[in-house]
Amino acid sequence: MDWGMKNRISRIIKPSTGRTVMLAVDHGYFLGPTTGLEEPRKTIEPLLPHADTLMLTRGVLRKCVDPQTDVPIVLRVSGGTSVLRDDLSNEGLTVSMNDALRLNVAGVALSIFVGAVNERETLLNLAGLVNEGEEHGVPVLAVTAVGKEMARDARYLGLASRIAAELGAHVVKTYYCEDFEKVVRACPVPVVIAGGKKIPEKDALELSYNAVKRGAAGVDMGRNIFQSENPVAMIKAVREVVHNNATPSQALDLFKTLSTQKKTA
Ligand code: 5RP
Repeated sequence: MDWGMKNRISRIIKPSTGRTVMLAVDHGYFLGPTTGLEEPRKTIEPLLPHADTLMLTRGVLRKCVDPQTDVPIVLRVSGGTSVLRDDLSNEGLTVSMNDALRLNVAGVALSIFVGAVNERETLLNLAGLVNEGEEHGVPVLAVTAVGKEMARDARYLGLASRIAAELGAHVVKTYYCEDFEKVVRACPVPVVIAGGKKIPEKDALELSYNAVKRGAAGVDMGRNIFQSENPVAMIKAVREVVHNNATPSQALDLFKTLSTQKKTA
């Protein structure tokens, strides 16, 4: 692995803890102005100082993030579908590696849809992106999307994560599940978890805690941060879990304290 690749990976997954709190705000590439992301700049700006990495699309990066930021970018480079279609697996590559490099990204991300009708295309997208990433020293984050017909269990997520790693992904984003440690153990590259749909802050903090306790390198969380009643308090609480091994109750106490301070400020 060349110096550039190692340097970019170290900007995504912090060497001091071997973990990361990635803020995911790429949802609009197929969901449009989803709740909490109606005005991306307003959502992102207060959260950016607390994110280890920002995952987003090139359109939002160019128009909604200050180029003077020193927060590393993981660029969503797959797409081509919308929530209006039943099958979201028909994704292709939407950003060239040259444009990603022009945007000075620390990494690129695409979705694979194992078991879906377009499985083969998305897996070959991953392989081709890894080829380009290796050529330019840019790590690839593979997102194991889960179709409606798939179960978010260790068997399926373990299969999808392992396939991503076998094809050369440098980091895999999947979901937390029962027996999650089996997914991590069978995946030879770092695994981060998506938060999924918004759940109570207490549950999202428990999810984060359980995931890192069972071997995840951190989270790539979106809705459970930017749809929280207090997003800044929430990302700070998630950071306490991921980087300081806070328990869910300690992190929830922090969330509540910060939320109260904000109200009285
Ligand atoms: C959306 C994505 C998101 O990056 C991923 O799902 C993480 O976001 P969330 O925590 O909201 O699930 O890939 O397609």
